[in-house]
Amino acid sequence: MQTLAGPSMNAVWQEFDVSTASRIGGLHQRPCILWFTGLSGAGKTTTANLLEGRLRGDGRRTVILDGDILRQGLNRDLGFTDADRVENMRRTAEVARLFADTGHVVIVALISPFRKERAMAREIAGSVPFYEVYFDAPLATCEERDPKGLYRRARCGEIANFTGIGSVYEPPFAPELRVDSGSLSVDDAVGRIIALL
Ligand code: ADX
Repeated sequence: MQTLAGPSMNAVWQEFDVSTASRIGGLHQRPCILWFTGLSGAGKTTTANLLEGRLRGDGRRTVILDGDILRQGLNRDLGFTDADRVENMRRTAEVARLFADTGHVVIVALISPFRKERAMAREIAGSVPFYEVYFDAPLATCEERDPKGLYRRARCGEIANFTGIGSVYEPPFAPELRVDSGSLSVDDAVGRIIALL
């Protein structure tokens, strides 16, 4: 029996009749977690969108967990303090694991600025293959693209703690894949990721 810590310590782990192995058996795909990290505007969501279309076309079962979307529901109580970002990553990693355990190829698109919590996400994934994909676009490029107008607002002082301006982004030291998303096309980025799989 698994022992839990924290306020949930009296919750008891349950074994169910249908195992994870049988849930994913017969799906003809290997579940995994693709964890996209990088600055806002680096291309995570756009690439996730195109990649999912390709994978679906190949008959894969997929799901996208996107920061902006999750923050409208599951994570709507969280802001952009360091502590809230940590909790945002933890919850998202747990949900990614649940989806992987039902056989999905899970695409996570989250700025996820901190190395420690990306390592935590990998730990939560456990035996599920975990690929950290770093969208490496220079801040100046992201700021120039500014698809949501948020960099401009952050520079005007309207948004505190904006990643890359008032809040730190820690690039991965050894991601499974680095996508040079400042110069690479979205199509090429998708190609690299599919090759990785
Ligand atoms: S994370 O840092 O906690 O991983 P997440 O990926 O969920 O961030 O959300 C980032 C999105 O929230 C950005 O794409 C942007 O649209 C929006 N956003 C709003 N405020 C901020 C901020 N202070 N820093 C970064 N992104 C912000």
